[in-house]
Amino acid sequence: MKYKRILLKLSGEALMGKKGFGIDQERLMEYAKEIKSAYDAGCQVAIVVGGGNIFRGIQAEEGGMDRVHGDYMGMLATVINSMAIQSALEGLRVQTRLQSAIKMEQICEPFIRRKAVRHLEKGRVVIFGAGSGNPYFTTDSAAALRAIEIEADVILKGTRVDGIYTADPEKDPTATKYEKISFEEVYTKGLEVMDLTAFTLCKENNLPIIVFDMNKTGNLLSLLNGQKIGTLVEM
Ligand code: GTP
Repeated sequence: MKYKRILLKLSGEALMGKKGFGIDQERLMEYAKEIKSAYDAGCQVAIVVGGGNIFRGIQAEEGGMDRVHGDYMGMLATVINSMAIQSALEGLRVQTRLQSAIKMEQICEPFIRRKAVRHLEKGRVVIFGAGSGNPYFTTDSAAALRAIEIEADVILKGTRVDGIYTADPEKDPTATKYEKISFEEVYTKGLEVMDLTAFTLCKENNLPIIVFDMNKTGNLLSLLNGQKIGTLVEM
């Protein structure tokens, strides 16, 4: 196994599947099976999920809502998604623990770094809910922060494209994919991998990022087995 401990970042929107809103049960189960395959292979898995399928703080702000208020609502949305992932995984008999950056002791543990690491060592998938617990930070930033805190070997950003391209492949048919790219090159070329806060956190802490297609069955496990899937960003 190439990576022993990973932080998997999932997008909230991806959980919508073909629906326009909320959680598509089919997509949720597909993701759970992918995660289980990594877990069964002995990988220590931590997960951060976005909340855009339920609530988007930025759009709410455009509609006149206070930014900070909207961001907190977005954090709560990530807890809903985290609970859905937890439930789906436990349905597959994967042991999990959910930790939230905002205390909700009736439904999950509070985020405690050392406990999270202990859970991983004991073979539990750890899901981090409520982002970083702070407004103005994205779930990508939360994912980068948690990955660094738990000393993950890599952050895996599951998306619907299979890597980083020279241009947006959904708009420009001549765009080509990078197999590997340095942090520096991502900066200078202005490529969109994560927001700059998240990206800088990874760069400054020498945490490699892999952007890959999470919707393709088997991709996650192949990647962990060392196959060249997606795009690797490293020093
Ligand atoms: P170990 O001490 O390593 O065995 O970890 P553990 O998670 O099994 O022990 P613990 O007794 O802390 O937790 C038992 C169960 O209670 C787990 O499902 C935890 O997720 C859950 N749990 C622990 N703390 C909290 C909390 O503050 N709130 C909620 N809702 N559940 C909690």
